[in-house]
Amino acid sequence: MIKASAIRQRYIDYFISKGHKFQESASLVPPDPTLLLTIAGMVPFKPYFLGKKEAPYSKATSCQKCIRTNDLNNVGKTPRHHTFFEMLGNFSFGDYFKKDAISFAWEFLTKELGLNKDKLYISVFKDDEEAANLWKSETGISDDRISRLGAEHNFWEAGPTGPCGPCSEIYYDTGEDENCPEKTKCAPGCDCNRFLEIWNLVFMQYNKNDKGELSPLPKKNIDTGMGLERISTVIQNVKSNFETDLFTPIIDKINELATTQNRESSQVIADHIRAITFMIADNVFPGNDGRGYVLKKIMRRAILHGKQLGITNHFLTILADLVIKEYGSFYKELEQNKKMIHEIIATEEANFSKTLEYGLELIKEVIAEHNAISGEHAFKLFDTYGFPLELTQDLARKNNVKLDVVGFEKLMEQQKERSRENSTFYKEGEKPIGGEAIIAKDEKDKIEMARNHSATHLLQDALKKVMGKHIAQAGSMVSPERLRFDFTTPKGLTDEQIEEIERLVNEAILENHLVDFCTLSLQEALDSGAVALFTEKYGDEVRVVTMGDSKELCGGTHVERTGDIGLFKIISEASISSGVRRIEALTGTYAFDYLNNNLKVVRNISAKYKTSAEQLEQKIEDIQSELDELKKTNAKMAENILTEQVISSKESETITFGALTAFISKIDIIEELKVDLKTIADKVQEKTNGIVCIFIHNTKTNKIQIIVKSTPGIPVNLFNAGNLVKEVTPIINGKGGGRPDLAQGSGEDSSMLPKAIEKAVTYLKFTLGSSVC
Ligand code: ALA
Repeated sequence: MIKASAIRQRYIDYFISKGHKFQESASLVPPDPTLLLTIAGMVPFKPYFLGKKEAPYSKATSCQKCIRTNDLNNVGKTPRHHTFFEMLGNFSFGDYFKKDAISFAWEFLTKELGLNKDKLYISVFKDDEEAANLWKSETGISDDRISRLGAEHNFWEAGPTGPCGPCSEIYYDTGEDENCPEKTKCAPGCDCNRFLEIWNLVFMQYNKNDKGELSPLPKKNIDTGMGLERISTVIQNVKSNFETDLFTPIIDKINELATTQNRESSQVIADHIRAITFMIADNVFPGNDGRGYVLKKIMRRAILHGKQLGITNHFLTILADLVIKEYGSFYKELEQNKKMIHEIIATEEANFSKTLEYGLELIKEVIAEHNAISGEHAFKLFDTYGFPLELTQDLARKNNVKLDVVGFEKLMEQQKERSRENSTFYKEGEKPIGGEAIIAKDEKDKIEMARNHSATHLLQDALKKVMGKHIAQAGSMVSPERLRFDFTTPKGLTDEQIEEIERLVNEAILENHLVDFCTLSLQEALDSGAVALFTEKYGDEVRVVTMGDSKELCGGTHVERTGDIGLFKIISEASISSGVRRIEALTGTYAFDYLNNNLKVVRNISAKYKTSAEQLEQKIEDIQSELDELKKTNAKMAENILTEQVISSKESETITFGALTAFISKIDIIEELKVDLKTIADKVQEKTNGIVCIFIHNTKTNKIQIIVKSTPGIPVNLFNAGNLVKEVTPIINGKGGGRPDLAQGSGEDSSMLPKAIEKAVTYLKFTLGSSVC
């Protein structure tokens, strides 16, 4: 069997041999803010196609990590739908065009991979006779194996705007599908499972603007994409992508963990764990919007399907390890981010598992009672139990009951409305552009709020400068009193980083930049590098707010110049959920009062210790070391006093047999001992020369401590301190033990103390007596 990894390598090697430059897979998080996730191999090359940037090479090849979620509900059900997949691609930036793209694809499939020509079929765009003719002349394929299809099949575009063009697809004939309505007349483009689309060649020659108009690109380009999963299915001669070696180790592990078998659930999990592992490795963290929400949704679906397989333990980390092992040699970022992947998955698994049980119970009850899921119930599941709507939809489908999505959405809208009305806060993630949604108590509040709002922009810019461009806004709240900014990042900030961020924001304030507004088309704004929110629905025209280096799409109220903010002070930085951190900060008079209050505290303490603020730290250190010294002296004195007490105790006895002696003593104390008993035993031994056995009775707590120390002269087989402790402690309802030369124990029953001492004396007499004999 040819492994998928070998197919991947052959593809790359083949195109390198044809003069293409190999490019490592780009991140799943595209730099381009019009896309939430990388959906195709062409995404990192978009600026070259658009002619915005000069390509450093005219031909490239890659194996690109991709995520598509438009068919989420089919994932696991069919043999070929995925969220995460790998796209093999070859690209020409104004170099070769249709003829070579067709020849390369044909040669690679039939010569390099050795596919049977008779199994291959072609589709072209209905108006692209040129492509059909090239297929015939370059490969010798007959016209009856070429289908001419409409734009829905054969015109490719990455999104509503951007580079696009007619395309030509290569299909593999897997044999007649018995459920096909067309039967023998079936051809590429049919919805049945017979013809498997394996490779898409896009003749990228247009740019589509936001009005839907096409204009020719500066150069004619090629963008192709072949799903590694699908071509592996064909080459490995299996029926489903899930039966290829890209999935079998994962599926096997899931089946091993499962207590009930269910193919769909295993396949959903196998698909999702790849997406989860790869997304986290690219710094996507579970959250409530944008790609964070996609990840959270996928994680929660995977956990739910795990439940359906009877997997009770947390299992996603185990599977993520397998993904890292299987894919780690080609995608180095997996191994590098292993710890973070573990932490984030474990946290989300723990969080969701807790509420899942309750949520599932609620759904069961609701279905049993109403035979449907109302909007209210779906909303409660979302709001209280964190069930994404899609998950509830899955469950409704499974149980064959109706779900009121419209009712759900209405409640969601009402909730948003409520929080807008009840709050004196302006929530940035929630506002139509151009509208002023600020509910301010008075004019002063308005000014304070504008300060905090503008400072939030400067903060975001400083965060990106200090932590890196991957920082993304996850939420923001501005009130007159303070500002709060939530952002995604794998790690917490160090004190130095916080200081640096504060410094940058205050510098921008001192530079007193003009806060500048301009209205641009969305595309122009994004091209200018303005920061945008994915959750926000922007209109055609957007307002861009610039202050110093900060440039954001925003419709809110701001100060006129950054100097109006006055002062910026971070008061806390903490984690609020896995991978999401929150900074709280103050500006203007609030920042001033905060600093002043803190200074007051320092001033008061300095006065108390009769020193200056500058010398306060040293003063406290001196006091602390003085205290440590005193503690040491105190302990020494207590040891000496206790030693004297032990030796002069009325209840002490010295047992002597020949040259051997044992000293046994009992004292009463009223306070908890803060001294080391071993030191006491050493000191007593210095004075009494022989075995030492001390009972200390705390008359306040009625607890008893015992320490027994042997002398170097006695062989361990004759006297064993550990054994003595073990003999006596059960009498006082306690326990203990230790080495033959030193042992300790404790007990609770002081009424039995005389008996215990008696036992110790007998034991010592017996031992010493036998040692003399
Ligand atoms: N960009 C093309 C696709 O994704 C190749 O199908």
